[in-house]
Amino acid sequence: MSFQLSDSALLRNASFIDGVWQEGEGHKLPVVNPATGAVVAEVLTTDRKGTEKAIAAAEVAMTAWKAQPAKQRAQVLRRWFELMMTHQEDLAQIMTIEQGKAIAESRGEVAYGAAFMEWFGEQAKRIDGDVIPAPSADKRVVCIKQPVGVVAAITPWNFPNAMIARKAAPALAAGCSIVIKPASETPLSALAMAELAHRAGVPPGVVNVVVGASSAIGPALTESPVVRKLTFTGSTDVGRQLEQACAQTLKRTSMELGGNAPFIVFDDADLDAAVAGALVSKYRNSGQTCVCTNRILVQEGVYEEFVDRLVAATAALKMGDGLDPNTDQGPLVNEGAVDDVERLVALSTAAGATVALGGARSDLGPCFYQPTILTDVTPDMAVFRNEIFGPVAPVTVFHDESEAIALANDTEFGLAAYFYTRDIGRVWRVAEALDYGMVGINEGIISNEMAPFGGVKWSGSGREGSKYGIEDYLDIKYILMGGLDR
Ligand code: SIN
Repeated sequence: MSFQLSDSALLRNASFIDGVWQEGEGHKLPVVNPATGAVVAEVLTTDRKGTEKAIAAAEVAMTAWKAQPAKQRAQVLRRWFELMMTHQEDLAQIMTIEQGKAIAESRGEVAYGAAFMEWFGEQAKRIDGDVIPAPSADKRVVCIKQPVGVVAAITPWNFPNAMIARKAAPALAAGCSIVIKPASETPLSALAMAELAHRAGVPPGVVNVVVGASSAIGPALTESPVVRKLTFTGSTDVGRQLEQACAQTLKRTSMELGGNAPFIVFDDADLDAAVAGALVSKYRNSGQTCVCTNRILVQEGVYEEFVDRLVAATAALKMGDGLDPNTDQGPLVNEGAVDDVERLVALSTAAGATVALGGARSDLGPCFYQPTILTDVTPDMAVFRNEIFGPVAPVTVFHDESEAIALANDTEFGLAAYFYTRDIGRVWRVAEALDYGMVGINEGIISNEMAPFGGVKWSGSGREGSKYGIEDYLDIKYILMGGLDR
């Protein structure tokens, strides 16, 4: 399937540093459409030197940016939001050709990303301080909030637009400038966003996008004393390495890392709603989100009926090229992702799991894996213990509430959890007992710009979105005024 942009200037092919699209000779990064294997673009990469240039530009630009009244920064973010929505279709097409997700999901992601621009633009005007009761009559104590400094953002391929927006919007609202390193699989969405930021009036140097090898760009970001905060979305392993690297310069960090989300269906659940919730929560982005349902736990009384209904609903999903408007399930991001899923399924079936649906690669192409349901899954199996990041739904039976909670909490991760029940007492008991940063009750999709997104345990630290999200980009300064009686 071919794609057609209304505004071809959104398709950029080089890093954006200090308001300038980089030119010259150098290594070109091929961007591959996982649905077809076709190279859709080649992006001129940058390296350590280019990253240092971006950091220096961000440092200079931040002085004037943070001095702008909040209302002015808010207006720029509002324009960026409006431009993203005006160009929603083009941004969605760019996303689908580089990442693979179904076009309807890409459109949804653009709107989700744009919503962070709108929300944090509004929040810029609410960065309030405090007046604190003073220790004596001749003193006054106040607290003000100031931008943390130049921010580095390392963003993932699974949400090439929204994860940038969720970091850049609060950074800019707070008065910070930012250097963004997008995933090498999906640089085009990031560059299109930079083009729109420029059109929205973001001054040169305030938003920079550096495309290139992590081995060159990562150390330049983590070692720089000018970068005062690093925000990362990605795997727990890489998050750990980045935390260690940032320790040298004592940067503030926000880490949005892996998940292993339980999806609990109690006997008293509305089964229609539970099946619909499991479907969207499991198969969103072909299972490639950190909040995707990773383990479905079903109470024995409804186990068989739930599995039958889930198999029927999953079998109806149409897999194909994301640009086809009839596609529900696109490919995985690359062949390595398919290999990982295949390995987890093989390990689990060898340990006794039963394939109720799918369980194999698809003949649509090397990046496609069939939507899969495994039953008879037990806590020792690979699909129960690991983040799957693919379209595989493992189902485990449980007998009572305490067993469900123990199974759900039996993981190092703590990002999102879901459960379905109509019992109000159980709603509170289970929500409070789950060791997770986010809990969805009778809902399979819980992400939005107004709510705090983030996890506990090995799922990371910090919160994105919501009124809390901006705090990660602000320092508190305490000011004491004395001698007021003289
Ligand atoms: C993620 O998977 O990293 C983000 C998912 C979301 O924002 O819903």
